[in-house]
Amino acid sequence: MTAERLDGKRIASEIREEIASEVAKHLALGHSQPCLAAILVGEDPASQVYVRNKERACEKAGIAGRTFRLPATTTQSQLLTKIEELNQDCSVHGILVQLPLPKSGNDGKGFDEREVLDAVAPLKDVDAFSPVNVGLLMQGRHRFLPCTPHGIVQLLHRYQISTSGKQVVVVGRSDIVGKPMAMMLAQRDGSCGSEVANATVTLAHSRTEDLAKICRTADILIAAVGVPEMIRGEMIREGAVVIDVGINRVGDRLVGDVHFEEAMQTASAITPVPGGVGPLTIAMLLHNTLLAAKLQATNNL
Ligand code: GUN
Repeated sequence: MTAERLDGKRIASEIREEIASEVAKHLALGHSQPCLAAILVGEDPASQVYVRNKERACEKAGIAGRTFRLPATTTQSQLLTKIEELNQDCSVHGILVQLPLPKSGNDGKGFDEREVLDAVAPLKDVDAFSPVNVGLLMQGRHRFLPCTPHGIVQLLHRYQISTSGKQVVVVGRSDIVGKPMAMMLAQRDGSCGSEVANATVTLAHSRTEDLAKICRTADILIAAVGVPEMIRGEMIREGAVVIDVGINRVGDRLVGDVHFEEAMQTASAITPVPGGVGPLTIAMLLHNTLLAAKLQATNNL
């Protein structure tokens, strides 16, 4: 068997076109231009690339992108002040603080990341990291959905891959991907209806015993561990759908958390790295920014 490649890049560009036309409609109703403010602290090269990509994507969708580049010497209190200023600025609809924050920041003490993320106003929290938005998601009445898991739901939906009644194994329990992904797929009603929801979900992690055996139970296997090519061919059930969230640099190559060539022989479908899940994250960030602008425009506070 040779697996089908799930083209996240194509789906992301489809979603971005839909958002651009929604933004045009929003403006035609007389509302102000949706605006995303990104805060980048320090000089991490990967973060600089992400933020630049976000700026470009905003521009193409008709969303204003403002980036605040703060030096690595910024203190916790200066960063909190900046966030509060953006919380109060009604021309800004979405706020994101690019992670990771530099370890050398806050006078060498490092930032209290939890306090920083908690400071973003929940109605502007387009990353969906605030406890309010995480809580709403847990209760099945989400406002913003975290961008990467939401992108995966969109990908499955648009390829008509149902998770309803299926065994899903999520490997990795991060707050950004693994945990919300597991929750979203276990729910009765997902953002794309009941077909990309209602799964029987196993959330596996670094302490999971016999990970290979657990992975082989998966109809849909989602790898989000950040370990290059950790998921080998023999861990994949024949005909499974494999979603690879990893983006790992190994020498001059970008590889996923899944051994792609081996998985191609066993899976029925797989997301490549790059060009799979990655482009969907930014598309869903634009979606959340537009949603934030709509909520604020209609005073749905
Ligand atoms: N760094 C890596 N992924 C993300 C993300 O989704 N949001 C933010 N703010 N920073 C990140």
